[in-house]
Amino acid sequence: MAGQEFAEGFRFPPGFLWGAATAAHQVEGDNRASDWWAAEESGRLPHRSGRACDHLRRYEADFDLARAFGHNAHRLSLEWSRLEPEPGVRDEAAFGHYERVLEALRARGLEPVVTLHHFTAPRWFAERGGWLAADALDRFAAHVDAVVERFGSQIRWWITVNEPTVLAKHGWVTGDWPPFVRGRWDLAFRVIHRLCTAHRRAYRCIHARVPDALVSFAHSIPWIEPCDPSRTLDRLAARLRTIFLVDWCFDRVRESGRRLLDYVAVNYYTRSIVRWRPRGRALLFGVDCHEPHHGPRLFDDLDQELWPEGLLQVLRRCARLGLPVLVTENGIATTDDGLRLAHLRGHLEALARALGEGVELRGYLHWSLMDNFEWAKGTTARFGLAATDFATLERRPRPAMRLLAEVARTGRLAPTGSEVTSA
Ligand code: BGC
Repeated sequence: MAGQEFAEGFRFPPGFLWGAATAAHQVEGDNRASDWWAAEESGRLPHRSGRACDHLRRYEADFDLARAFGHNAHRLSLEWSRLEPEPGVRDEAAFGHYERVLEALRARGLEPVVTLHHFTAPRWFAERGGWLAADALDRFAAHVDAVVERFGSQIRWWITVNEPTVLAKHGWVTGDWPPFVRGRWDLAFRVIHRLCTAHRRAYRCIHARVPDALVSFAHSIPWIEPCDPSRTLDRLAARLRTIFLVDWCFDRVRESGRRLLDYVAVNYYTRSIVRWRPRGRALLFGVDCHEPHHGPRLFDDLDQELWPEGLLQVLRRCARLGLPVLVTENGIATTDDGLRLAHLRGHLEALARALGEGVELRGYLHWSLMDNFEWAKGTTARFGLAATDFATLERRPRPAMRLLAEVARTGRLAPTGSEVTSA
């Protein structure tokens, strides 16, 4: 991205949301009634979440940290398996806990952005067939209703379900997440369809009780491009992957001709460069390729390419839906502070450019506040603005956290090369 454009720096609009995103299973610890915990205990997953970051007990200190670093918003998920550990049984202690969590956010001036389903579900739900069970949608709808009844007045920004395509791919295609099914794109698309239907029901439920709520689902949107743009089949592969993994969900959330979305919640991490290969180990209409003509490319510890330009492209594309956009996740798995800074700086510039072009961008929530339990990768992938020492559970802010703090506090992205001061 051209540094020249930012020679004068860039000013973000007042009220822009700045913060970090988390998910219950990844930070809270002791998520015993969940399907993930059961799978971890059974040995089918390579890592155990255990006490994770112990955020269940340390949430106030974590929110203090977020506030001290200039955040004014925070994304979290309310763990369904805590709130309904047995079918139809509401756990009052868990409701009370989340009530205090939401109050703690408000007391620190952190706007809650609340996810209702972030990959984990109650163990009982999974044992009855999970998202493919006949009554799955009714069960989730009843849960959503209970949450909205209790917390509706405390929450403005809602995310119904997190990343339908990612959950479906890992659970039913690559098979490295519960329920560990492999190679079944047919089931994966049924799951995606169900999650989109679950979204629509949740959307209606939330609006029935909280008319001015802002509701979306969080969509994982990579920037997808053809390996060789002069080859028709590569272009077709990129187009089909975009249709099935990006556009399809946006179509599934339509009802009576309108999309049941109040904003677009974008989780952006990387770009995929796709070469056509309809069979073999293809992920979906092609394989990701790394070829010399693409020039040097930077990858993180999870082999995801660092490609800030893609965020700009994705934001432009989302803006065409005619809705405001909130970046609900963006981050990098690395222990290299310089790379993390370059990543953040590049993506902040992409936000600035999108705003400059008129995209109605409402905020940026970085993944994640601190290193946490990265699903099947355990604690090996480090995404935190703050490093977590998993032996002592100490959080240590990284330089990128200071850069974000400076931008959040001043509302200004200083010109490239200017010093990052201490927070
Ligand atoms: C998920 C997070 C995950 C992050 C980094 C997203 O797909 O929503 O739960 O930790 O990516 O891999």
